[in-house]
Amino acid sequence: MIDFGNFYQLIAKNHLSHWLECLPAQLNHWQRESLHGQFSSWLKVLERLPDIQPTHVDLKNGVIATHEPELSHGEKECIHNILKIFMPWRKGPFSLYGVDIDTEWRSDWKWDRLIPHISPLEGKTVLDVGCGSGYHMWRMVGEGAQFVVGIDPTQLFLCQFEAVRKLLGNDQRAHLLPLGIEQLPDLKAFDTVFSMGVLYHRRSPLDHLWQLKNQLVSGGELILESLVIEGDEHQCLIPGERYAQMRNVYFIPSAKMLKVWLEKCGFVDVRIIDQSVTTQGEQRQTEWMKTESLANFLDPNDQSKTIEGYPAPLRAALIARKP
Ligand SMILES: C[S@@+](CC[C@H](N)C(=O)[O-])C[C@H]1O[C@@H](n2cnc3c(N)ncnc32)[C@H](O)[C@@H]1O
Repeated sequence: MIDFGNFYQLIAKNHLSHWLECLPAQLNHWQRESLHGQFSSWLKVLERLPDIQPTHVDLKNGVIATHEPELSHGEKECIHNILKIFMPWRKGPFSLYGVDIDTEWRSDWKWDRLIPHISPLEGKTVLDVGCGSGYHMWRMVGEGAQFVVGIDPTQLFLCQFEAVRKLLGNDQRAHLLPLGIEQLPDLKAFDTVFSMGVLYHRRSPLDHLWQLKNQLVSGGELILESLVIEGDEHQCLIPGERYAQMRNVYFIPSAKMLKVWLEKCGFVDVRIIDQSVTTQGEQRQTEWMKTESLANFLDPNDQSKTIEGYPAPLRAALIARKP
């Protein structure tokens, strides 16, 4: 079983302690009732990963662990083979003792677009909603965040995160909980909250923004990243059954409409800081994610459209403050 006891002990001593009123019951329920059919075998695989203490960890320029002297070919092969069991790897990349996990997404590109604009994370308590494998959480630690909590209901991503944590020398500055945003009480305890790639998956996007606001301290900062469409503040796409082959896409607003939504939910100082078309350099099939990717989701005759005929993926990032 994943042991959340250490996390409980850590938050008992900080300003997240009120979370303990409901969190252990929720996670016990999750362990009893909601485990993925393969979860217990994934846990056994995690145990087979060697306990290594890196001699150097670089979370500022990537998620990179190295060991001096270098691991033997056999040791690297063992790590490589174990990590491959946790495919598909979507968010990364990771470089762990010479094993390079070339993920579907160059999540570092998104990070590089954001980092010049966000308030310094030094000493901050941070929440990453829909954190995936936890790639950006480690980058937040690399920026000096004191304590980073990620939530993501996808259990394979929890295993990927725990594998990376183990290989980073069992780093306890970041923690992933297998919860959806709708399961969080109003914690009002995080200095910075990230919601990246989640809003368009929510049936009720304004409620999502309220939930994010309720996680922040007064004066705290939200970084919101989403698929958007071109257009003014009146434009929003509600796709049919699928958008770029994804089934669970509900609202894709323009960045300007997203700004209005944030203001309507009571955020202030709302800024659109980036808008970028997703390229096939940023999202593609790799050795670590062998199924279809962006190239298969676009119209082969017109790359400005998805195969369903909608505008091709364009993403925006906004920053807003809770008053
Ligand atoms: C497109 S990925 C984004 C990953 C990462 N934040 C990034 O920007 O690269 C969306 C993530 O949201 C997670 N997710 C889905 N429903 C969620 C929910 N109700 N609450 C929190 N996360 C959710 C998915 O498991 C998935 O990992």
